[in-house]
Amino acid sequence: MKVCIVGASGKLGRYMVQHALDQGYDVVGVCREKSVHKLDAYKGRITVIPGKTNDRDVIKKAVAGCDGVLTVLIPWGIQQYSTGTAQAVLDYARLDARLVFSCGWHITRDGKDVYTWRFKMLVKLFGWVARLTRLAELDDQVKACQGIFASGRRWTVVRGSDLEEGASQGLPVWSRHVDDPILKSNITRRIDFALFMVEALKNDELIHEAPAIVGCQTPSAIANAPTRPV
Ligand SMILES: NC(=O)c1ccc[n+]([C@@H]2O[C@H](COP(=O)([O-])OP(=O)(O)OC[C@H]3O[C@@H](n4cnc5c(N)ncnc54)[C@H](OP(=O)(O)O)[C@@H]3O)[C@@H](O)[C@H]2O)c1
Repeated sequence: MKVCIVGASGKLGRYMVQHALDQGYDVVGVCREKSVHKLDAYKGRITVIPGKTNDRDVIKKAVAGCDGVLTVLIPWGIQQYSTGTAQAVLDYARLDARLVFSCGWHITRDGKDVYTWRFKMLVKLFGWVARLTRLAELDDQVKACQGIFASGRRWTVVRGSDLEEGASQGLPVWSRHVDDPILKSNITRRIDFALFMVEALKNDELIHEAPAIVGCQTPSAIANAPTRPV
């Protein structure tokens, strides 16, 4: 399997590179020119295509012939970075390719997620400060996801909880709506977020799903684990 990782040099991206190599996949990574050095550990083992992830020519070249595309969707800057990135992937990936995108719990697919007052305030405040300082445009990430949901492509949008570093605990568990009891712990190891993204490539049950994930060893995941028949 040949896999393209868009945003490969970031923390999530590098974990995905490692997981993809562990699976024996051929990996093509896209990252900004100035960040290529962050992938030095993988020199000779992956193909790196330098460039901004919303550069359509860069994405066209990177996804050519790939069976799967893993995209780190980030809204940095006031430059339609998320929408530009997502649209380029949707336009240029092979029609049968599995497309897996990352985002946070603040993205809702069907409006049925229930957020705490504190969460909503934080998102609003961060969105406002980020736009004012021209650091990021959260709305653009929302728009990008709406475009993905509306597309007929074989997509999965993985919605990450709060993240922490640390050794892998295994594949996160997921649910369709924020506020489902299994998600209450709201914490996932970043390495496992990446694992979920990579595993999603071969899990057709996740096609056209927007799973909200949480660490499998967290209290809410353990307390709400499905009971197995004896
Ligand atoms: N952080 C959280 O707590 C959290 C929680 C839930 C979900 N998520 C989701 O997880 C994904 C990545 O999160 P992460 O925290 O793990 O971050 P990350 O992996 O460090 O990814 C950051 C990415 O943003 C790029 N980037 C940074 N500044 C940029 C700029 N000014 N212009 C263009 N690109 C820039 C980085 O590229 P360079 O290497 O070139 O800098 C890197 O690819 C996102 O989809 C996010 O929505 C995060």
